[in-house]
Formats: sequence, C-alpha cells, structure tokens
Amino acid sequence: MNAGDLAGKHLVLGLTGGIACYKAAELTRLLLKAGATVQVVMTEAATQFITPVTMQALSGRPVFTDQWDSRMANNMAHIDLSREADAIVIAPASTDFIAKLAHGMAGDLLSTLCVARDCPLLVVPAMNRQMWQNPATQRNAAQLRADGIVVLGPDSGDQACGEVGDGRMLEPASVHAALSAFFQPKLLAGKRVLLTAGPTFEPLDPVRGLTNRSSGKMGFALARAAFEAGAQVELIAGPTTLETPWGIARTDVQTARQMHDAVLGAVSGTDIFIAVAAVSDWRVAQVSTEKIKKAAGQAAPTLQFVENPDILASVANMAQAPFCVGFAAESHDLERHAQEKRLRKNIPLLIGNLGPATFGSDENQVILCDAQGITHLPKADKQALARTLIAEIARRIDIATPV
Ligand code: C5P
Repeated sequence: MNAGDLAGKHLVLGLTGGIACYKAAELTRLLLKAGATVQVVMTEAATQFITPVTMQALSGRPVFTDQWDSRMANNMAHIDLSREADAIVIAPASTDFIAKLAHGMAGDLLSTLCVARDCPLLVVPAMNRQMWQNPATQRNAAQLRADGIVVLGPDSGDQACGEVGDGRMLEPASVHAALSAFFQPKLLAGKRVLLTAGPTFEPLDPVRGLTNRSSGKMGFALARAAFEAGAQVELIAGPTTLETPWGIARTDVQTARQMHDAVLGAVSGTDIFIAVAAVSDWRVAQVSTEKIKKAAGQAAPTLQFVENPDILASVANMAQAPFCVGFAAESHDLERHAQEKRLRKNIPLLIGNLGPATFGSDENQVILCDAQGITHLPKADKQALARTLIAEIARRIDIATPV
C-alpha cells in the first residue's frame, strides 16, 4: 500500500464493541503510515475487547471514551473532536451502533460525535452473520446509505463464533484502500474503465513457455487510481502475484489470445480502455502436448511462431471504440517510436517509457504522447503516477480527442 496517500488527513477512528476491535490496532498503524493523524474514540463496550492504553500507544494520542471527559476545557468533546476531522471512521461498527446511527441516537460520546459531525462518516460493520442478515440490521444499514453514510463491507468468511458467512470486518488494508479512494477527486464518476495488465504466457509444451518481465504493477496501480476516481473498473490480468486492488473486478488469463477474448467480451459499454499489459507478439504455431525432450545427438528444436492478435488495435478500430490508451516501452528513440506507434494503433493517447528498467520497479518515468505532441512527466512512485495519468485521461475524454 502506498505511503503518504492520506497525508494531512485527520481521522477520528471510532471503535465499538466487537471481537474485530483487534483489527482496529492494525488499521491505526496503516493509517498513520499513510500520513494521517488518528484520534481514537471508543465506546464502553469496545474497551472490553481492546484497551484504550493499546490504542493510545498506537495512535500517539489520548483516547476518548467518555462524554463528560474533563480533559476538554469546554466539556464539549463531541463537538471539538468532530470539528477537526476530515472523516469519522467507525471500525468495527457493531449491530447496536449501526442501529443507533440509523436512528440518530446520541447516548454516549461516539454516537453524539457522529450526530454532531460536519464531516463524512464511514462505517465498517463487524458482526455475526445472523446479526448482519437480521432484517432490522439490513434496514438500518440501508438507512445509513440513504443518509449518505458510507458502509464498507462487510466481508465474508470465517467468524470468531465459528460460523461462516457475511459479517466479518474488512481487513485493515482494505479499509485503508477504501479510505484513500474516498478522498480522491471523482474525475471518472459514472465511467466504465477496462484495463489489461501484467505479462502474458505462451506455452511451448506442458512445462515451458514464453513470457516477459512485466510485473503488472503499473496496470494494477492504474486500475486502483481509476477506481479511486469513481470509475467502475474491470481488470484483465496476465500471470502475476499481485493482489487485486480494492473494489476492482478481475479476470485472470494466461495467453494473448485469452486476453484478447476476455477484452472483447468485456469492452461493450466501456468508456475507457487502457492497455498496459506486455502482450506477447507471437505464440508457437504448434504447442507440444508432451514435454519436448532432448536426446543425445539430436539438434536443438526449431520453433515456428505465429503472430498474436493486437488487442489494443482491435479495440481502437471498433465502430464504438472507447477512449483508448496504449503503453510502449522502448529501448531508444522513445519520442519518435511512441508517436509512430500511437498513429499505427490509431489511438489518441500513448504513454511511453524508456527501457525495461521499470519492470518490477515501484517507480516509473513516462512521456505522454498525443496529437498535440509530447509531454514529459517527472519520475514518480507508480501509484502517484497512476493518479496523474488518470487525471490526464479524465481531462481528455470529455473533449473530442483527435488521433
Ligand atoms: O506494439 P507494442 O507491443 O509495442 O504495443 C504496446 C501497446 O499495445 C501496449 O499498450 C500493449 O498493451 C498493446 N498490445 C496489445 N496487444 C498486443 C500487443 C500489444 O494490446 N498483441
């Protein structure tokens, strides 16, 4: 996860009673690491699951639990704490607390703080699956959404009570990702974005294949940035070990032809197509069904190749083509090759970078290449760069962009 993506944000983290309070400890660490300041407020019940001392030590700030806390000179903790906040996050949010919020009840410090807030409120439910499915809880959660409160999760899986189902609190990394997304400008609200990312793998025989050194990091960072910008995002990924960014629908493929088919199956109704994958230009004509063996005295095998379909060009040449963005890694003459490639692929925007040095790296330095010419962007962390690129794309989609 990206350090600094919550820089300058002041968050009130509210803990309510539930075994998932232990996840709030890790969440606090992640939020601080991302640059936020975290003011913890706990209900009486939450203190049964994790101590204020632990939360104070982790957040580096005194924890508030009591509405009548004498540390507040004006005795108005519920006003003062919420006025400083960029957002209040309730994690974990219990059944009881969700019910209180739905009815605007203000019987303790945390609920009063929520009612008195003038900042966004996000709740992260955590409870037994039956409690979550209970019609009253579902009604209350729907009421929160209708009131403009963001409900994150819950997740599905093993529960502390030994049951399995919906109700688990989201993992701290997902809450962090959802919060980062929450604060990004919604430049792509209502848009549908399709991306390819990672390498492809072309088999030679059952154990060998052709691939490349693409890590998928740039494509995954762009998928995340597009989601943060409010888009509905679908990601078609070649073989990579990267985790799926929060909120994104992912399809895994191996070969260029599988990637081609997956893209064509998903592209209808898409506003933007970003082809980041390093797609193999060729595949072997005849994949051996058995492992190709070496035998004494036999010459090395000769492989016959056939060309793979160009996914980006196929999409760019569709009658109702989305706004298409391509990537190009070149070893020399970047600007010339990038412009030539952009025109050859018939796309309005191509993003180019020099050499394979960026493969696997967390940083990248690129040029933007469009009908207006070339723009150099400074070297940056891939996630920060992805946000800049999404802003550049968002700026271009609403104007008729010439190829
Ligand atoms: O022609 P070249 O492979 O250098 O072009 C790179 C761009 O085209 C990238 O955006 C890549 O994802 C896309 N591409 C594709 N299908 C291919 C080859 C490349 O979509 N078969």
